[in-house]
Amino acid sequence: MDAIEILTTLGTPEGRADPYPLYAQLHELGEVIDTGIGQVLVVGYDAINLVLRDPGYRVSDEANFDKDFPDWNANPVFVQASDWILNLNAPRHSKIRSLMAKAFTPRRINGLEPAIARMADDLLDGIADRGADGSVVEFMHDFAYLLPVTVICELIGIPESDREGFRPVARDLAGVFELQDVNALPAINAAANQLLSYFTDLAAERRAEPRDDLLSDLLAQADDGRLTDFELLHNLTLLLVAGFETTTNLLGNGLRIVLTDPFAREAAKSAPPSAFVDEVLRFDSPVQLTSRVGYDTKLCGVPISSDAGVITVLGAGNRDPRRFADPDRFDPSRDEAGPLSFGGGAHFCIGAALARLEGAIAFPRLFDRFPKIEAAGEPTRRDTLLLRGFDSLPITIA
Ligand code: HEM
Repeated sequence: MDAIEILTTLGTPEGRADPYPLYAQLHELGEVIDTGIGQVLVVGYDAINLVLRDPGYRVSDEANFDKDFPDWNANPVFVQASDWILNLNAPRHSKIRSLMAKAFTPRRINGLEPAIARMADDLLDGIADRGADGSVVEFMHDFAYLLPVTVICELIGIPESDREGFRPVARDLAGVFELQDVNALPAINAAANQLLSYFTDLAAERRAEPRDDLLSDLLAQADDGRLTDFELLHNLTLLLVAGFETTTNLLGNGLRIVLTDPFAREAAKSAPPSAFVDEVLRFDSPVQLTSRVGYDTKLCGVPISSDAGVITVLGAGNRDPRRFADPDRFDPSRDEAGPLSFGGGAHFCIGAALARLEGAIAFPRLFDRFPKIEAAGEPTRRDTLLLRGFDSLPITIA
């Protein structure tokens, strides 16, 4: 198959279900592949790192929204997204990102450890109750989805009493990352409005009475004039959408590997939790790709033009045979470079430490608690390529 055929197959349900054989074919075509239709695929580990660390490549920002979707500012979700650091370039990106990073301190993230362990144990208690008699339990809904969204709520400072209603709204908004149909926009816009109005009210409460949470820290920055209220509120919604479905998929993808690979099941007992998490991220990354707009340059000898769409296929880079020996084998003891799953350079995932911490707390607890955990029938995959994970992963624990 040539690059176009591979790309087309990646867009089919079968291709999305298992993109790895297609990535292997792309690796045979080179590290950087010009598709000839204005898109360049970057699949080599080193080449992906080069693109993500080179400020000449820009993320698609407001100027691109204007070009690709002239009506964008009639949609609340895009108005918010135009302030998301994910969609900003320097100098605005650097300004807002560094202020957010100040509130995202290692002290705050590591301080969440006891709360995450408690939340994980509570959810596992629920699974133990429901599954003790051999009944089928739904892992995605009952654990993988609830843990990350609860953790982000805790981090931001969303009161426990508000969290229940919050989760489906956050999920609706996350639909913007893989928008395949404009008919989905009304629900996404409604979620964007609802979250913005919720955060506006919560910000007013925290301004009156600050607490030790991320929202109060960010508000202090806004009150110093370094961040506008909209920049702050819009990036709060980004934290929700960027942080929860991705981590949900880390948990689901990791469990699925253990349920289907006896070696991984053994490794889960003996490997250091952080090494296990990193190998899950490498082997089946929750985020498979990201993209940049090119500039006039060459990448590994391939000419790039200023309007080229440059797609960095993180999931392919994680299986690059030039970088990883026997890349299709799950092996937490490998000591090669880390996964590309959190990106790299200026936009490196701001929540990477938190996601790794959640995985390192959740997996050992899950496998210690339920040594007899088994798949109960076939899981259902989400039919998406960018975010890779399951909708449903039924299990038994007894
Ligand atoms: C396993 C879980 C996660 C994965 C695989 C992941 C992956 C990524 C990737 C690949 C990027 C870079 C995108 C690019 O360069 O275009 C990114 C950026 C980002 N992530 Fe994550 N993420 C995860 C969890 C989280 C969490 C828990 C949070 C928040 C609490 C978060 C917040 C963000 C934000 C705000 C950005 C934008 C950073 C910027 O543009 O400067 N992510 N993430």
